[in-house]
Amino acid sequence: MSDDPPLIQSLRTAVAAAPADVPLRLHLAQLLLEADRADEAVAEAAVALQHAPGDALARDLMLRAMGAPPAPVPPAPSPAERPRPRTGFDWKAAEDQVADVVPPRFAETPVRADGQDDPGDAEAWDVEGPGTVRLADVGGMQDVKDRMEAAFLAPLRNPELRKLYGKSLRGGLLLYGPPGCGKTFIARAVAGELGAAFLSVSVNDVLDMWIGNSERNMHEVFETARRQAPCVVFLDELDALGAKRSRTAHSGMRNVVNQLLSELDGIESAANEGVFVLAATNVPWDVDNALRRPGRLDRTILVLPPDGPAREAILRYHLRERPIENVDVGKLVKATDGLSGADLAHVCEAAAERALLDSVRTGTVRMINTRDLLAAAKETVPSAEPWFASARNVAMFANEGGMYDDLVAYLKKRRKL
Ligand SMILES: Nc1ncnc2c1ncn2[C@@H]1O[C@H](COP(=O)(O)OP(=O)(O)OP(=O)(O)O)[C@@H](O)[C@H]1O
Ligand SMILES: [Mg+2]
Repeated sequence: MSDDPPLIQSLRTAVAAAPADVPLRLHLAQLLLEADRADEAVAEAAVALQHAPGDALARDLMLRAMGAPPAPVPPAPSPAERPRPRTGFDWKAAEDQVADVVPPRFAETPVRADGQDDPGDAEAWDVEGPGTVRLADVGGMQDVKDRMEAAFLAPLRNPELRKLYGKSLRGGLLLYGPPGCGKTFIARAVAGELGAAFLSVSVNDVLDMWIGNSERNMHEVFETARRQAPCVVFLDELDALGAKRSRTAHSGMRNVVNQLLSELDGIESAANEGVFVLAATNVPWDVDNALRRPGRLDRTILVLPPDGPAREAILRYHLRERPIENVDVGKLVKATDGLSGADLAHVCEAAAERALLDSVRTGTVRMINTRDLLAAAKETVPSAEPWFASARNVAMFANEGGMYDDLVAYLKKRRKL
């Protein structure tokens, strides 16, 4: 928060750098409480309690932050001396100590010109260096990982292999599946795996209100990738091209599709060695068939709602900084079959809300438990269901060339077909 006093700001940054440091976090909570920012103090105390559930000072702070009378436990300062910093603690020294840990508040990445008021400037697609997410961070989904490895990672790592298999590895890979199930996350992880540069573009960002500018943007994306090779271009939300519908409705879009086609075909030429394309969409059946021809986005990978191990990883991730107690992850994994990654994040949030409301109501702090989570899971409607309803029709009536065989197999296994 930009209007934080410097010490609170520094402590926040230090806490972010050392999330498990309970005394540090409690200092922050204490300061927030003294600054009349009880809500934020509650949040910090809650995290501290997760790391040190029995900590008396943390519990006391939590109660005070929630407006309960101070417990007669450790050194609760008398009201008269409360506003002054407690004696015996060397604030100056703390500030000095924290100064080392504090990284710059902003990374020095230039802000991309929006282009709206300057249609001539379509430069600066940010190329990211390898990120920190790895395939190992993607829980479960072993078959997706295996296919990613065979179809993409192995040849990318190994130029010899690439030569050996030559043509069969041309073109890009299209990830598809219901929303919120990890397509974008997996693409990031793949980038993290590679020493390659990663150029992630939402197709929506490429599209520009100025006629002709979208084509230029698309071309720029690939030019940038060629300069940075080896480079992975990730086209997220490919469906934004709305190719099938737009053929009649909006011919401007047609030109962008054509531009993408010529860039993809360019990938076969020697000049494009080292440029690899990944794309993602929720609605592969809306993607122009021309984009799906051999040598273009001809191979597909279906990304389904997370399996058991994936759900466990996602749940653990979202609970990592929340005050939990004796959570039976196994039970929870069973109860959340069919929920997407985004749904699971919602479950964790809803459970935290239940526990917090309950704590406020009863005046007794309690941790998030299995019952909160199971109740939240029960109330969460699987957001992928509507997707499967449309996918079912496609699988039944439009599985041309076996493109949706994976989907058909899954639907059959789940008795949805
Ligand atoms: N296997 C997994 N392991 C760990 N986290 C996952 C996994 N799958 C999904 N997630 C989490 O679920 C969230 C949603 O995933 P993501 O945004 O990648 O979905 P998506 O398929 O791209 O959705 P959309 O179609 O809406 O773009 C991510 O923030 C990610 O943290
Ligand atoms: Mg996505």
